[in-house]
This record gives sequence, structure tokens and C-alpha cells, in this order.
Amino acid sequence: SSRRSYEFIEVSEPRPGVGQVTINRPKALNALCTPLITELNTALRAFQASPTVSAVVLTGSARAFAAGADIKEMAPLTFSGAYTTSFIESWSDLTTALKKPLIAAVSGHALGGGCELALMADVLYCTPTANFGQPEIKLGTIPGAGGSQRLTRAVGKAKAMELILTGKSFSGEEAERWGVAARVFADYDALLEGALATAEVIASYSRVAVQAAKEVVNKSQDLGLRDGVEFERRVFHSLFGSEDQKIGMRAFAEKKKPEWKNE
Ligand code: CAA
Repeated sequence: SSRRSYEFIEVSEPRPGVGQVTINRPKALNALCTPLITELNTALRAFQASPTVSAVVLTGSARAFAAGADIKEMAPLTFSGAYTTSFIESWSDLTTALKKPLIAAVSGHALGGGCELALMADVLYCTPTANFGQPEIKLGTIPGAGGSQRLTRAVGKAKAMELILTGKSFSGEEAERWGVAARVFADYDALLEGALATAEVIASYSRVAVQAAKEVVNKSQDLGLRDGVEFERRVFHSLFGSEDQKIGMRAFAEKKKPEWKNE
């Protein structure tokens, strides 16, 4: 399934249990045109369905993760055209297509829709010189793929408001300091290696538990604390019905390595 051919992305399985999607539209600094987003959705759905993949790394090039939505595609759009075709709505499918963890490895430009795409990932890694930002204000528009919501949740209202109103960039080093990025790596090679290594760690665990962990953490972004804690407890209870939970706890007691069944 991961062997189909794409125009704007490359898909591979570089490590056991790990899928990789590389955005590959170098002439436009990986600008995210609609066909590219469609390919990304297709690739993530294929990884979701894949019995061999447990976690996915999403990256671009050393120079650009993605320099935004495609400005040349958007320039001629009208309100009624954008509204009636639900322009950009398919980007939201990216957050539901994959129930397995998605790690974004961001080097170079991650601007506008590129920043928003990175913010959709479950774990964000970057280089210190990565160039994040929501520069839409400079184009006479605003973030349209969740930036005003996800960036605000990630850095708080004060910083998000300043960044979105000025269009000013922030560095990967700042992203890490502000909690947007989980870690920074010295350069692109180290970044990709770090992302693949983390994906491998995740892939070594029960797929059932991993999916549940992703689901409950993501719920924290939508629910109030009381509802969120209750939701977590319900899912935690449900895992007593999984075979892997029995396998994991039995292996601990027997001082053995658990052999997950993903059941
Ligand atoms: N859309 C379409 N094409 C883009 C693009 C984008 N977002 N970003 C870069 N490109 C193209 C350039 O037009 C250029 O193509 P040509 O060679 O055909 O002219 C090519 O990529 C290389 O770009 P530059 O020559 O500009 O490269 P640079 O190194 O001088 O500058 C940059 C790099 C600072 C990232 C600059 O390209 C830039 O500012 N890009 C636009 C960034 C931006 O505004 N992004 C937000 C888009 S709006 C959005 O994303 C809406 C949303 O919320 C969903």
C-alpha cells in the first residue's frame, strides 16, 4: 500500500514499524497545494491501514518543511469559491486519518500552513534554526488551517497574538523553549535520526496502548479538566480488556520482555 507513486511526497518504511512521509516539492519550498494535501491524506490513511507500521515521521527537506499553503493557488480564489468548495477543510482530515503517532521533523521554513501542519503532529522535533511563523497577515489574510487555535494553545495568548498580528517568525530554538517543540537537534541529519529513533521506541510498544495514549492526550486539547480526566479513566479502564495489558503486566512480574499481540 505504501508503494503507490506520488507526485509531491515520498513514502517509505525506513525502520521496522516506522513509516516516513517526506514532502518533496522543492521548486516551491514544499508549498502545500491541494493535490499535495490530498496525497498526504492518502499516505497517512495507507499507514493507518498498514499492519507493519506503528508510528509515522513527517518531514520536508533541510531547507523547508513547508513554506505555507500555495499562495499561487490561493491568489485567484473568491469567497464563494473558497466557501462552496470548503477550501482547506481537507487539511483537517490529516488529524483524523492517522490514529498512530505522527512525529514532525521540522528543518528550515515552516511558515503559514507549514507551521500549522507541524502543529498538527503529535510530537514536534526541529532544528535550532528552523523558521516557524504565521506570516498570513502580510498577505492580507489570517491563518486558515488551525494556526490561531493550535499556536495559541501551544504558546499562550500573549505570544500567539503577537506572532499572528506581526507575522514575525520564531526560531526552532524558541519553539523548544516555548514548548512547541519537544526537542531540538543540531542539524537535519540528527533531526531525522532523532525522529526515527523516537518512532522506533513508540513502535516497540503495544499498538493498542499507543493509540489510546494518543487519543487521551489529544482529548486534553478539546475537553475541560474534569471531563478530560474522566475520559482518560474510561479509556484506562477499557485497557483492562486488552490482551496486551495482561501481557505487559505479566512480563513485568516475570522480569521478561513483553511480546505484544496488538490485541
Ligand atoms: N506558495 C507558493 N509558492 C511559494 C511559497 C508559497 N507559500 N513559498 C515559496 N514559494 C515559491 C516561490 O514563489 C519561489 O518560486 P519561483 O522560483 O517560481 O519564484 C520558490 O518557492 C522559492 O522561493 P523564494 O525564491 O521566495 O525563496 P527564498 O529563500 O528567497 O525565501 C521564503 C523563502 C522566506 C520562505 C519565501 O519563499 C516566502 O516568504 N514564502 C511565503 C511564505 C508565506 O507567506 N507562507 C504563508 C502562506 S499563506 C498560508 O499558509 C495560509 C494558511 O494559513 C493555510
